[in-house]
Amino acid sequence: MLRSIPSTWRGSASNNLTVEMTEQKGNMEAVGMQDAERSAAAIAVNRSQVIFDTDPGVDDAMALYLLARHPLIDLLAVTTVYGNASIATTTRNALALCGLYGLTMPVAAGAAGPVQALAEERFPSHVHGLDGMGGAAGLAAAVALPDSHLDVRPAWQLICELVNAAPGEITLIAVGPLTNLALALQHDPSIAGKLRQVVVMGGAFGIKGHCGNITALAEANIFCDPQAAALVFGAPWPVVIVGLDVTQEVVMTEAYLAKLQGRGGLVGDFLWQATRHYQDFYDSRDAIKGIYSHDASAVAFAIEPSAFDLRAGAVQVRLDGAARGQTTQDSQQAGQTQQVCVGVRPDRVLALFEQIFD
Ligand code: BDR
Ligand code: CA
Repeated sequence: MLRSIPSTWRGSASNNLTVEMTEQKGNMEAVGMQDAERSAAAIAVNRSQVIFDTDPGVDDAMALYLLARHPLIDLLAVTTVYGNASIATTTRNALALCGLYGLTMPVAAGAAGPVQALAEERFPSHVHGLDGMGGAAGLAAAVALPDSHLDVRPAWQLICELVNAAPGEITLIAVGPLTNLALALQHDPSIAGKLRQVVVMGGAFGIKGHCGNITALAEANIFCDPQAAALVFGAPWPVVIVGLDVTQEVVMTEAYLAKLQGRGGLVGDFLWQATRHYQDFYDSRDAIKGIYSHDASAVAFAIEPSAFDLRAGAVQVRLDGAARGQTTQDSQQAGQTQQVCVGVRPDRVLALFEQIFD
């Protein structure tokens, strides 16, 4: 079923879509379709069914809004994982964001810690705030979905059941520690052959000097659960890794974020508030006068892959020691199903948000 398409989308959409639409035009003209019908039909053909595995998280909140609003996305489920905050907090935030964004699909709670439990979990409140939403969680509390909305299944089980019900159809976008994906693979290795694609925000490969953000050598999502990441990157499913190499090239400036205020009902104001604490962290660390678009870049890849350049090759993860969580790629190993994003057109990623706020 098609959701309503913002007027700004009719007949324009993404570059990929435009190409596909041109290819389909001949057939559609033959059956006498009008422009609006053609656009709707092309969108229906090109839509991706998505499961979003997330640890909201300020940038997760931006990514989820892109999934919620973009006409090429059919969001099937949200699964939560610890990471930017505890599992209780990230799950509460996911319910709040779904309420705020008008989403009613299943939300399932996932892992509370890595596959190999650590003595003590620490969460990055200096980056995402104590509430994981930069202090803005209260703004969405009144519209949050109730706890009773939570799916009774754990995240890994919901992932397995959805994938088995639609083999070859689903794109899994993971933007937190990869624990839920590893658990899903451990319970049902056959799902590796049934995903259309797995898109991961995580890792760093040293391109343009982007090597790590939680340590000098490791990106946060991979550092949190390197064992899970090694399983996910070693499985025989098509994985695209959207790491710091590209996400730190896409900066949402303060001016860009300020322009969201007053748009999308309460959403623009919420995202502006939520990003204040997050921006303070990046301003003091990297002086970028804005925020990196980590998780939204992974969603952007699923929507507009031609905005990114890819490199194929097996990916390895350092499991422990000083380099714990470091990711490397062997691009000489042919025939691998892993691909790493090595380039991005930031303006095209940033333009997606302009299109979804009408
Ligand atoms: C990743 O870590 C988290 O802080 C963000 O939400 C993002 O998924 C960036 O390293
Ligand atoms: Ca995240």
